Amino acid sequence: MASKRETFTTNFGLLMTMIGVAVGLGNVWRFPYMVSKFGGAAFVFIYLLAVLFIAIPALMAEWTLGRYTRRGTLGAFEKAGLPGGKYAGYFFFCIVIFAAGYYSVAVGWVGYYAFAEMVRAFGREIHPQAILFPKTGFVPTSFLLQLLMTAIVISSCGLVLVKGLRQGIEKISKLIMPMLFIILIILIIRTVTLEKAGDGIRKYFGNFSLNSFNSVTIAAALGQAIFSLSLGGTFMVIYGSYLNKASGIPKNAVFTGLGDAIAALMAGLAILPAVAVFNLEVFSGPNLIFVTLPNVFAELPVGWLFGLLFFLGLFGAAFLSDVAAFEVLTAGIVDNTRISRKKAVLLLCAIVFLVALPPMISEKIFIPWDLTFGSGMQTLGALLAVITTVWCIKRSDALKEFAQGRNKPFPPLLYWWMRLVIPAVILLVGVLWLLEKVFKIITIG
Ligand code: ALA
Repeated sequence: MASKRETFTTNFGLLMTMIGVAVGLGNVWRFPYMVSKFGGAAFVFIYLLAVLFIAIPALMAEWTLGRYTRRGTLGAFEKAGLPGGKYAGYFFFCIVIFAAGYYSVAVGWVGYYAFAEMVRAFGREIHPQAILFPKTGFVPTSFLLQLLMTAIVISSCGLVLVKGLRQGIEKISKLIMPMLFIILIILIIRTVTLEKAGDGIRKYFGNFSLNSFNSVTIAAALGQAIFSLSLGGTFMVIYGSYLNKASGIPKNAVFTGLGDAIAALMAGLAILPAVAVFNLEVFSGPNLIFVTLPNVFAELPVGWLFGLLFFLGLFGAAFLSDVAAFEVLTAGIVDNTRISRKKAVLLLCAIVFLVALPPMISEKIFIPWDLTFGSGMQTLGALLAVITTVWCIKRSDALKEFAQGRNKPFPPLLYWWMRLVIPAVILLVGVLWLLEKVFKIITIG
């Protein structure tokens, strides 16, 4: 089976795919909000340190786990020798079903907002907010629109997935990611040339205060780095299993981590000064892009064009993260059963569509799903994946796998850093997440 496994065609394709998995809603609706809440430049500085010293090495570990076992979530933990690894695999496989469900709903909202901006181009107006679930109760219009958009998103994921890695995932990532960066550049130029944009930039990126270096900010920055890089023993493990033996893991992990961080910084620079210029508030979560930003676009001359570019770019980025979630599931079935890829994709599209129904109904279901199946489980999965790679795989085998594709050995110091420091740090982030989101004892983000 391993000999038939697809691998990436080119290093460019590999990087676009990996950055495509990482860049998503987290870069656009979570990062700018965190910058504004946690002390601007100081938060950015700590976040960048977290990316460099924690998230990038953890990414190396996840890819190594995937390439060494040639399996994704379902199979990798067991093959690498994690005690109970088989059940850990089943557990995270189920988590990804739920994650794909609510994420597909959110991608559908973004798609509908892009459609609304397109309609504005023809001088017509539709209210995109109609797709969002209301604060209270159940509204049939919102539900029907979400059904339609989610069905479109899920079937589009299915169309990409049946084509496999090279012809489906890699090809579309090579198209979408460069477009996203071009769109971000256009939006930044628009934002920084607004009158008084300098005040907005200074407000969010110019205030470097040592007071911001506290445990809460550090925990928030670490959590964001893990979430944003799509760590979690799922997406990056399966995509790691498609890495060629000739691809250098450390080098590509650095490029992927930096690409994701640059996308977040660019999104922050495109959004925050504009929000400041129009005296709007930086909300957390969906409100930032679904309530605040449409108001910004409405104020700009030819705002529909910038709105359309923004929502199309975001749709593309989030779509690729959704495709990755589906790939975890598809590969889980194909690698471990005799079911064909096409049948597996069809089956999964149907299951995920059913699972997506509850989060369409109310915010009271959507938000806890996001917290549980998104950030919380990602932290736990990342912890397990790193531990499995550096504690369960024989040291010499792990070091050999880390070093494949580069002409020098993997630095032993980095291996020990992964063994001792990274699990402890991720565990700390997980405990803080529990204290904040589950037990509500502290406030982070
Ligand atoms: N890393 C993905 C995002 O940021 C999940 O949305």
